[in-house]
Amino acid sequence: MDRQQIEEIIGKYKYPEGKILSILEDIQEVDRYLSKESLKMVSEALNVPLSKLFSIATFYSFFNLKPVGEHIITVCMGTACHVRGSAGLLNNLKNLLKVSENGVTEDGKFFLTTEDKHFSLNTARCFGCCSMAPVVKVDERIYGYVTVNDLPRILKEYGWKEDENR
Ligand code: FES
Repeated sequence: MDRQQIEEIIGKYKYPEGKILSILEDIQEVDRYLSKESLKMVSEALNVPLSKLFSIATFYSFFNLKPVGEHIITVCMGTACHVRGSAGLLNNLKNLLKVSENGVTEDGKFFLTTEDKHFSLNTARCFGCCSMAPVVKVDERIYGYVTVNDLPRILKEYGWKEDENR
């Protein structure tokens, strides 16, 4: 997002200093995440310390500080899923999607996005369907009793192509 777009968003609000959360939400709605550059421009435009904007962005879990892929894969790492092998699912997904970094972001969350921005991979604590553990969610769809062997089939539903990606 460029400076002009940021200024347009800020200009929508009569008292923008009191609407920081809304401004950040508006930016994320367009970019799907909050880049450092965008936060810096907001900080300059509103004369608000950048550290304050980072605190807000890291406090609210719905803000993303890294680019987000078209499809978001979330592996449940809650206790029930963990004991049934979710760490193995996560490692396999990292391999299949070729995202090998450790993925821990500045705010301590786990988040990785493929180079082509087709997929993002993250983790959650519990989806509330522990009886189906281990559970993986892709966008809004929940997959239960997932095994490592199921992963390529699930990814293919979202446009993952094995040959091109391996
Ligand atoms: S622990 Fe995974 S759904 Fe509850």
